[in-house]
Amino acid sequence: MSPVDTASNSELAGAPTPFITTELPGPLARSAIARDALVTSPSMGRVYPLVPARAAGCVIEDVDGNRFLDMNAGIAVTSTGHCHPEVVHAIHEQSSKLLHYCASDWYLPVYAESCERLVSSTPSGMGAAQVFLGNSGTEAVEGAIKLARYATKRHNVIAFFGAFHGRTLGSLSLTASKSKYRGGFGPMAAGTYHAPYGDAAFIEEVLFEHLCDPLDVAAIIAEPIQGEGGYSVPPPDFWPALRRICDEHGILLIADEVQSGIGRTGKMWAIEHEVGISPDIIVAGKGIASGMPLSAVIAREALMVWGPGKHGSTFGGNPVSCAAAIATLDVVERELLENATMIGARLLRGLDELASLNSSIKEVRGRGLMIGIEFADHDTAARIEQDCFRRGLLVLTCGKSAVRLAPPLVISADQADTALRILADSIDAVA
Ligand SMILES: Cc1ncc(COP(=O)(O)O)c(C=O)c1O
Repeated sequence: MSPVDTASNSELAGAPTPFITTELPGPLARSAIARDALVTSPSMGRVYPLVPARAAGCVIEDVDGNRFLDMNAGIAVTSTGHCHPEVVHAIHEQSSKLLHYCASDWYLPVYAESCERLVSSTPSGMGAAQVFLGNSGTEAVEGAIKLARYATKRHNVIAFFGAFHGRTLGSLSLTASKSKYRGGFGPMAAGTYHAPYGDAAFIEEVLFEHLCDPLDVAAIIAEPIQGEGGYSVPPPDFWPALRRICDEHGILLIADEVQSGIGRTGKMWAIEHEVGISPDIIVAGKGIASGMPLSAVIAREALMVWGPGKHGSTFGGNPVSCAAAIATLDVVERELLENATMIGARLLRGLDELASLNSSIKEVRGRGLMIGIEFADHDTAARIEQDCFRRGLLVLTCGKSAVRLAPPLVISADQADTALRILADSIDAVA
């Protein structure tokens, strides 16, 4: 990107938005979609016909020049906003020096620096930690499960209904949000059990009682706030009970922070809202490098007992992604935790008001900028998602019948108010 492009991109961040000048999709978007349909895998279920050309902050401009207010952040990824200048600068600097040299086989200082930064961000109860870097959330979940099995010499893993941990075969075995993700793919990984999210008693009273000896369980994996499953905040006794069960039986507790981490809930890790609870392993991805592919398995040092060759990756911890992660952590720690807390509270207040006026909203929930709005049924949520797109607001459904808000953490008060206004209009029109 030339400096001219950067300047025009920063203007884009402040341009009046939404701004829709064509029918949607516009002519250039239609032709891009037709071209795409011929050669791309039909397994990707596109949500609405958005064809982004460039983006800055919370604003996305499509190929026809329409501007959308982004409350998705590319599914909770562009934490510092689209093309944050500090992140773009770090990517430029690193990419002009070194694009790749497999960190699983040689030494990259920028890899170690990213790991240092992640270790120092973890809840103090975890103590000393070490990090393995991968490319995607699913890859980090696979790594965490391998590590948990290796460190405990046990094989079973307990996850929760509604969970989303990824789509590769190991993580897919833990994913239990929609049966269509599993259908047609044959047997899942052996030794995987599920409990209702928020119900730790089920683990002791049903799983341990009837199905699964706790001494065979390597790990319990849970999202601090369920993402794909509905942006559900668990009851306050859930995580303390999981910690107690794990401690009693020598089981490792894994917090999947792929969607909830890196400041999204107003704390670096959503698990920090569970006062006094520390996991043994944190899995991170999505927002960690503002959109560059990177993920992390952050584990207590005492668990990192696997020796050379036990786990690795050609691209994992790519130096350009690592540079983007360091810049991302700088920006998030400096200014975005506070913004996520403040604007999140503003959105929750506005949505609660909306709910008090509108019976089609059944519940508003969330923490920071991870907010779910539950509607009466899936059809209403899906129609609001589509209607908002036509009004220039990008939102996404989750769970059975919720719409999620997960904007870039740089969202301003004005942009939050615009989002609330459009949502109100859309709910009026649709519900
Ligand atoms: C909580 C959680 N874990 C894991 C994943 C998988 O991440 P990825 O799509 O990067 O493989 C996701 C993706 O949505 C997620 O939300």
